[in-house]
This record gives sequence, structure tokens and C-alpha cells, in this order.
Amino acid sequence: MMPLSMLGLLMLMPLLCDADSTCTDDVLILNPSKVIVEYGGEVIVNCTNPEDDHDGIYWTNGTTDVEKEEYRAFVSLTLTPSDWDARAQCKLMRTGNVDCTKDLEITVYKNPDGVDMFPIKHVEATVEGMQYQLQCDISEVAPVQNLTVRWYKDNEIIMIDSFTNTNKLPVSESSILTVNISRKDNGAQFRCEAQLDFEPFGPKLPAFVATHNVSVRYAPVFTNDIPEVHIVEEDNNVTLDCEAEGHPPPHFQWTRDGVNMMEYTDKLIITQVNTNTIYTCIAANDLGRITKTIHVNAMRYPPTTPAAARNMPEASPLEGILLSF
Ligand SMILES: *[C@@H]1O[C@H](CO)[C@@H](O)[C@H](O)[C@H]1NC(C)=O
Ligand SMILES: *[C@@H]1O[C@H](CO)[C@@H](O)[C@H](O)[C@H]1NC(C)=O
Ligand SMILES: *[C@@H]1O[C@H](CO)[C@@H](O)[C@H](O)[C@H]1NC(C)=O
Ligand SMILES: *[C@@H]1O[C@H](CO)[C@@H](O)[C@H](O)[C@H]1NC(C)=O
Ligand SMILES: *[C@@H]1O[C@H](CO)[C@@H](O)[C@H](O)[C@H]1NC(C)=O
Ligand SMILES: *[C@@H]1O[C@H](CO)[C@@H](O)[C@H](O)[C@H]1NC(C)=O
Repeated sequence: MMPLSMLGLLMLMPLLCDADSTCTDDVLILNPSKVIVEYGGEVIVNCTNPEDDHDGIYWTNGTTDVEKEEYRAFVSLTLTPSDWDARAQCKLMRTGNVDCTKDLEITVYKNPDGVDMFPIKHVEATVEGMQYQLQCDISEVAPVQNLTVRWYKDNEIIMIDSFTNTNKLPVSESSILTVNISRKDNGAQFRCEAQLDFEPFGPKLPAFVATHNVSVRYAPVFTNDIPEVHIVEEDNNVTLDCEAEGHPPPHFQWTRDGVNMMEYTDKLIITQVNTNTIYTCIAANDLGRITKTIHVNAMRYPPTTPAAARNMPEASPLEGILLSF
């Protein structure tokens, strides 16, 4: 035998369920139908019974009836959420019919206190070829599941991040960008934008932004195709080119036939060439050094060559000399 009290409870249950039934849209209309409100802000919501046929229309907050209307078709609620889990429900009492309720969907938001970006791993500068990681910290934002973080490199979007944390209270979150960095990225600006976005039904709030300029260090590379052999008419001049770029900018050094020339520029002018000489240039920074060997060969005309012959097409004497290498 079941105890009487339990039997009574079982009989009551269907009634309780009915009392909790959801009002259909023709019976109760909430305007606005959902609320997105800033913490500490204010919004007014009307709950209307279009037929104006009821014994009372209420707003409750889950524990207490906060607004009540018996003689009008609607009841207004002024919502000033100071609670991250604010709740509101409209309740309709009907003669000869079951009571019904409708929950108001409330989103209480708070913009971030701030956004901060910094590199992790390589704080000062990064070396080409290394994976670069940037972290963007977003502090005290709610609800974080409606936050979008967009990453840009020089104004071009490269990543979009979002969060699955369902906490309604303000939380701090981080987004991490991992990129392969190359010398082209030296001076590039990375930007992260954190924004609460309730579209398409709600507002898109202002974005909070942090930026970071990346400095990429790399070993020198020659910028010009340097001819390895110069053939110079005797007593003429030639400019040797060792142009290279790197970060930090490379310094240069030259040797002539293996002897340091105490020359420290990227270009070197050799005047009055009259011997075959081997030059070496070095471009170096603290990440590496590159060298280039340049042959300068003097082209000597036989003293008997008539002046007119010196204006002949270059091909024949040059060919002769080239063959002698
Ligand atoms: C709520 O109802 C009042 C009275 O009819 C009206 O003035 C107000 O604009 C309504 N507010 C909304 C949000 O519908
Ligand atoms: C409902 O409102 C009453 C009266 O304003 C308040 O005391 C109570 O804490 C509220 N309950 C909730 C769950 O907000
Ligand atoms: C970055 O480099 C790593 C290792 O070289 C490679 O596996 C990865 O695919 C690269 N990522 C991108 C985005 O290029
Ligand atoms: C907030 O984000 C969740 C998860 O993406 C989504 O279901 C919900 O509709 C969003 N809230 C608003 C008010 O847009
Ligand atoms: C960062 O880069 C941007 C765009 O390239 C430039 O305008 C800005 O002056 C740089 N900021 C710093 C601190 O170098
Ligand atoms: C070579 O350079 C010297 C010194 O700069 C200059 O006086 C001379 O005119 C140059 N010779 C030629 C052929 O350009």
C-alpha cells in the first residue's frame, strides 16, 4: 500500500505541471521578446494579454511577484539588472482556464575592462623561421560566449576566435595567434579586436583593440644579383656591389687577394684596374654572415692595336679572355 501523502502528491503533479504551462503567443506577448541589457542598465518590458481577459497579469522574478496588473491588458516591468543571472517571467491568471507563464530571455552584458596584447616566447624580437605567438588578453567580459576576437595583420583578417565558456559572470579570457614569421613581416602590425556581438537580433557593441608591431630578425641576404666576374678594360674603373639586407642591418668588409682592405661599405669602387684580382665581400650581422667572391680581370689590348680596333664589337676580345678562365 502506498502512503496516502504520496498518493496525494501524485494526484497534484499534473496540476503543478499545468500551472507551469507556457503561454502561447496569442495569449501573452512580450515586448521586446528578448532583452539584451548592460549590467546596471535599464530596460522596460511589457507583457500583454491581447484579449484583456484575465484575473491578473504578473511579472515575477522567480521568487517574488514584482509587478501586478488586474484591470489592464498589460503589465510593465522596469528591469535594472544588478544580477548576472537575472530572471523574469510573465504570469497570466485565467478564469476557467489554466494559468500560464512565459519566460523572458535576458542577456546581461558587460564590455571588457581592457584588451592587452603581447608576444609569448620571443619578447624582444623574433628570428625568422620561428613560430611566433601573440597573446591577446580580454579582461572581465560577459557573457564571454558572445564575444568574438578578430586578429588582423596589417588590416587583413587572419583569424577569428570565439569561446565556449557558458559562464554568465564576467570572466577574463585569452586568444593566442600562432604564425610563421618571415622577413617580409618585419614591421608588420598585428591587431586583436574583442567585441560583444549579439547580431542578428541584437546590437554589435564597440570593439576593444590592442596592437603590436613585430620586429623580425634575420641573417643578411644579397639584394642584387652580383656578377662574379668583371672584365674591365685596363686603367678603367669598376664598382663592386655587395648590397645586402638583414635585420639588424649588416656590416660589410672587403678583402683583396685575401688581405683585409679596411673597407666597410656595401659598394666598392676599384680605380685603374690593371691586374687580375680576387675580391671577397662579407655581409654580416649577429645572425649570420654571407660572402661573395668577385673576380676582376683587366683586359689588356696589345700595344700595337690601332685605335680604330678598340671600337670594334666587344664580342671577339671578350670571348678570347673568357675562354682563358
Ligand atoms: C509598454 O507599454 C507602454 C504603455 O502602453 C508604452 O508606452 C511603451 O512604449 C511600451 N513599451 C514597449 C517596449 O513596448
Ligand atoms: C525578486 O524580487 C524581490 C523583491 O524585489 C527580491 O527581494 C528578490 O531577491 C528577487 N529575487 C530574485 C531571484 O531576483
Ligand atoms: C608553419 O610552419 C610549420 C613548420 O614548418 C608548418 O608545419 C605549418 O604548416 C606552418 N603554418 C603555416 C600557417 O604556414
Ligand atoms: C550568445 O551566444 C550563444 C552561443 O553562440 C547564442 O546561442 C546566443 O543566441 C547568443 N546570445 C545572443 C543574445 O545573441
Ligand atoms: C606600428 O606600425 C604601424 C603601421 O605599420 C605604424 O603606423 C606605427 O607607428 C608603428 N608603431 C610603433 C610603436 O612602431
Ligand atoms: C676612375 O676614377 C677616377 C677617380 O675617381 C676618376 O678620376 C677617373 O676619371 C675614372 N675613370 C674613368 C674611365 O671613369
